[in-house]
Amino acid sequence: MSTATLTRLPAWTALADHAHVMADRPMRALFAAEPKRFDNFSRRLGPLLVDYSKHRITAETMTLLMALARARDVEGGRAAMFAGQRINVTENRAVLHVALRNLSDRAMAVDGQDVMPDVRAVRARLKSFSEAVRSGARRGATGKPIRHIVNIGIGGSHLGPMFVADALKDHQRPDLSLDFVSNPDRTQIDDVLKSLDPAATLFVISSKTFTTVETMANAHVAQAWIKGTLGNAAVPHHFAAISTNLKAVAAFGIDPDAVFPMWDWVGGRYSLWSAIGLSVILACGYDVFAAMLAGAEAMDRHFEQAPLEQNLPVILALLGIWYTDFFAAPALAVLPYDHRLRLLPAHLQQVDMESNGKGVTVDGTPIGRSGPIVFGGGGSDSQHSFFQLLHQGPHLIPCDFVVALQGGDQASRDLLLANAFAQTEALMRGRSQDEVTGTAEVLKPHRSFSGNRPSTTIVLDAVTPASLGMLIALYEHKVFVQGLIWGVDSFDQWGVELGKELATGLLPALRGTGAAPRDSSTAGLVATYRAARGD
Ligand code: F6P
Repeated sequence: MSTATLTRLPAWTALADHAHVMADRPMRALFAAEPKRFDNFSRRLGPLLVDYSKHRITAETMTLLMALARARDVEGGRAAMFAGQRINVTENRAVLHVALRNLSDRAMAVDGQDVMPDVRAVRARLKSFSEAVRSGARRGATGKPIRHIVNIGIGGSHLGPMFVADALKDHQRPDLSLDFVSNPDRTQIDDVLKSLDPAATLFVISSKTFTTVETMANAHVAQAWIKGTLGNAAVPHHFAAISTNLKAVAAFGIDPDAVFPMWDWVGGRYSLWSAIGLSVILACGYDVFAAMLAGAEAMDRHFEQAPLEQNLPVILALLGIWYTDFFAAPALAVLPYDHRLRLLPAHLQQVDMESNGKGVTVDGTPIGRSGPIVFGGGGSDSQHSFFQLLHQGPHLIPCDFVVALQGGDQASRDLLLANAFAQTEALMRGRSQDEVTGTAEVLKPHRSFSGNRPSTTIVLDAVTPASLGMLIALYEHKVFVQGLIWGVDSFDQWGVELGKELATGLLPALRGTGAAPRDSSTAGLVATYRAARGD
């Protein structure tokens, strides 16, 4: 469905009219008029509570948004995903990461073929491989037990596992270090390797394609390091790999027992549930990973079965659409108030912006608006950084506060949550000039806050493998629903291709063998680099 059709839908025009009305209704007034507003606009699902009462919405707003979701056949799109249809239209692929966390005996098929036997077989291999490494049954070439894991990957083969491993740090085995290398800047891998014992190191090469240049460059550095320190024959003992490109993995010299397949129906940014989670499994143990899968599965069931009105991913998606399309909000701030969730914004940047940062709908029609700019950072730190703009800047930026009720000690949790809740209150209430007291008249405009700035608060009982799985799946499905409404293909990422292609073309120019760049800026930059290189 094209955007032109979208904006002509009666549900759309009704929302546009309603947005004019809501523009004049401050949230303060909505709270005053509706004492049970928190009860009316919050929902609990297992260990997750979502408070969306601090939004510019009424019951009517939600009814109109739900009508839009129905007009865009969100239910049909959702069913198509779970049925393994090729909803990634531009790549002609199914999108079935939900199969990776299907722990039931339900069949999930692509092209009539149940993928679950393969998924279960890989899970069983991940379990036995990780147990062998962790127990010392599988050792390095010299017989030393593995004590260091280094994940080499980038994008979804890096951000998801790194976020999850960090969030589950309390579950990591203290005698097993875990590092993540993604940057082709040699500095990063050198920094990691200098403190490691090669004889006790296992590299996990995570790459769906096994062709990504950054990952392959780092994989070859690691391979040379192992060969240089332990000899060529040591390579099979010190590498594992996850990929769809099993031929390239074999050519690299990885022991087939340490090679884990994935499938083209797993998108990179949804791959942490696949064998791409191996680094997490090695560090935390298979059972912790399985508990995370179970959490995600619970969110999948909810997303698949709950009526739209009660469906958390759908609700969050529609709130995002409300601001992006009807209030021209350019961004979404993701603000975890829990140190263990500090890498959530980085993971969600890929999940959201690589999915919905699109300029055309599936039929190629230019689209007016699509996914927001996602940014964020640890709540307390960010308060002393970009929160100024959230409170008083000219842009309307909806915020997601993500908090956990337990973690650390009680006193620090009190402080953390007081700050998180206070920020949501400040954004909502603001402070009028009349309410500014004890200051010179001339300073009142500076010390007042417009307020009426929306936020969602996602409350986890605690950061556990299960609640983490639910949280990530919540965002994945939210992004999917938004893509359905905008009519974009949320599962391709053509926008990253042009830069990759040009880099391949420019590399010879930087080394003095390629054609001259086509514009004076790029040519000037290349010449500047070549001069620094001493050419
Ligand atoms: O940047 C594009 C992308 O394809 C991402 O979608 C993906 O997560 C990343 O590159 C890494 O790809 P691979 O796992 O194939 O190395």
